Amino acid sequence: MKVKASAPGKLMLFGEHAVVYGYPCIVTAVDKRLYVEAAISGKKEDEIISPQVKESRFVLESITHFKEKFAIQDSVKIETRGDFSHNVGLGSSSAVTVATFKALSSLFNKSLTLREIFDLSYQVTLEIQGLGSGFDIAAATFGGTLYFVAGGKTIEQLDGNKLSLVVGYSGVKADTPFYVRKVAENFKTRKSEIKNIFEKINNLVKLAKHGLLDKNYSRVGSLMNQNHKLLRKLGVSIPKLDEMVKASILAGAWGAKLSGAGGGDCMIALVPAEKKTSVEEAIKKVGGEIVDAINNAQGVRIEK
Ligand code: PMV
Repeated sequence: MKVKASAPGKLMLFGEHAVVYGYPCIVTAVDKRLYVEAAISGKKEDEIISPQVKESRFVLESITHFKEKFAIQDSVKIETRGDFSHNVGLGSSSAVTVATFKALSSLFNKSLTLREIFDLSYQVTLEIQGLGSGFDIAAATFGGTLYFVAGGKTIEQLDGNKLSLVVGYSGVKADTPFYVRKVAENFKTRKSEIKNIFEKINNLVKLAKHGLLDKNYSRVGSLMNQNHKLLRKLGVSIPKLDEMVKASILAGAWGAKLSGAGGGDCMIALVPAEKKTSVEEAIKKVGGEIVDAINNAQGVRIEK
């Protein structure tokens, strides 16, 4: 018997970096998914076929944790496939981890609640990466658009509507741990300055939550612009992302910002529908690549 599970990738809407320090963020799941097919193999060793090489450790650790939890002896064969490459920064490691737990729970008929899948997956990623708030795991697990506090202390669905987003890939692979450490070092040496930036970001996240619930997109866009400025002050943006953000705003976006750790990966722009094409063109003109992604996607699920 084979089972197949999938989990969505994510985009950080507001609050990156500050979320690592206990402040809330807003993350949305996207319709680019990671698929995990699992079967009992009858072989001695587990077998993982994961062309997205970066993910095999996440799969391996998830299998180990799952087997330990349910005292399972059988070996499994796992194959993974993705709608997106791990280079883009949409959270393929988190999605593959979450989808692996879901696939195994279905394969061995062991029930795992979404909260348990979140907790197990977060533990696996912490063991491998040593840091992270778990916002990406939450998006992969629960889907939708979430108001999230590190470790899952708060996970609140924001009544989801699809946003008119344009996603631009900078062409540069971001090194998330490097930028998280960089902020941590600055936090040590310039504590009150950095804390002040986090407080301001915290304030924006709270306003953005209401803006999203009220569907007040011009307001949300302006908050995105402010969030981007604060991320620049934190020292995590790069000229390419700044150019893409600026080009989007000039082309009529309500607002734009980098999304994630910074240093590369993607930026997002919130746009009135009639400006979508011109914003996309403007991003391409400065060297960005458009990523077709629809937000507010469903969380982890079994694929028929
Ligand atoms: O680079 P990404 O997309 O994995 O985003 C990292 C976001 C941080 O807040 C910087 C780290 C975290 O785990 O929350």
